[in-house]
Amino acid sequence: MKLLITGGAGFIGSAVVRQAIAAGHAVVNLDALTYAACLDNVASVADHPEYAFEHADIRDRAALDRIFARHAPDAVMHLAAESHVDRSIDGPGAFVETNVTGTYTLLEAARGYWTEAGRPAHFRFHHISTDEVFGSLGPEGRFTEDTPYDPRSPYSASKAASDHLVRAWFHTYGLPVVLSNCSNNYGPHHFPEKLIPVIILGALAGRPLPIYGDGSNVRDWLYVEDHAEALLLVLSRGAPGESYNIGGENERSNLELVRTLCAILDAKRPKPSGSYADQITFVADRPGHDARYAIDPARIARELGWRPSVTLDEGLERTVQWYLDNEAWWRALQSRQGVGTRLGVGAVSDPHRGTVSGANRRSPEE
Ligand SMILES: NC(=O)c1ccc[n+]([C@@H]2O[C@H](COP(=O)([O-])OP(=O)(O)OC[C@H]3O[C@@H](n4cnc5c(N)ncnc54)[C@H](O)[C@@H]3O)[C@@H](O)[C@H]2O)c1
Repeated sequence: MKLLITGGAGFIGSAVVRQAIAAGHAVVNLDALTYAACLDNVASVADHPEYAFEHADIRDRAALDRIFARHAPDAVMHLAAESHVDRSIDGPGAFVETNVTGTYTLLEAARGYWTEAGRPAHFRFHHISTDEVFGSLGPEGRFTEDTPYDPRSPYSASKAASDHLVRAWFHTYGLPVVLSNCSNNYGPHHFPEKLIPVIILGALAGRPLPIYGDGSNVRDWLYVEDHAEALLLVLSRGAPGESYNIGGENERSNLELVRTLCAILDAKRPKPSGSYADQITFVADRPGHDARYAIDPARIARELGWRPSVTLDEGLERTVQWYLDNEAWWRALQSRQGVGTRLGVGAVSDPHRGTVSGANRRSPEE
């Protein structure tokens, strides 16, 4: 298949690009190269004859039309998004523009291309979304595909809006869509403003390891390579109009997660004295911080036969090792705007246009 993958220079999109090429697909990687992009993430496939890169914005309809006409893809995998919750608190506008308007523009370009091609039944528009659209859980229960939407942050609200648009294009125009909603991803190439790399890199630098609130917020962690495999399966075998929840069955509180990372680092790169856990410090909570996310992945297991391949402990071990082995990769990204400062403590300006508020220190976040 020829896949048009949006956001393929980002964290998850690049894992999908690498796996899709390895699986024998042709790939067109469409990315606007925002602050979150890193073309090094796809350097291993950049010279592959079945790989092409298109520098374009999903809000640019003319560019999208040209790209559809030039490459004639069999499917779209839509991952391009503004993805960082804390940035959405400081500057929600960019999230509405890319995640809502951008998805609308991409849907319309895909519909135009698909209609022109005679509405082929095999075409797919796969929209990649988040479990955050379902809101926050108490101590019990898990999100299923039927859980009502209840987004709480500008990020999750914009993703929820895009999910609704995608479903509407299926019901109204018959565009063959599939959706997936996944839990928190982690693994190699994770941008250094997200929780796990913040903790690993902060620990190595001897900085305090700040934890929002009391650290009791629970997340369900999914190894990015497992997620990419699940996405390719949903694309090829998912039923049009359906959505699939993808989770790692790896629930852990933020405090437990940080302690696990510190223990792995203690073993791999011991400090002269004491533990990296001694650097843990508690900071004011994120506004509207959801208490618990947990995915019930029963449908994708039952219908498509997918299960995560690594436990959280194995995945964290691999991830820590990757950051230890790839210092040049993360050092280059640490100088980007906003990375290394606390974001999302109060709205003062758009992080894409100006300065941001908050203490000048790294912060844990999903
Ligand atoms: N990271 C997670 O834990 C997680 C969990 C659930 C769902 N998701 C979803 O998965 C997708 C990928 O997430 P990620 O963590 O890889 O994100 P990311 O921020 O690492 O990458 C996003 C990519 O999209 C590109 N992009 C942004 N705006 C664009 C635009 N207007 N036009 C074209 N390209 C643009 C960026 O340049 C970047 O390469 C997103 O849709 C996100 O909502 C992520």
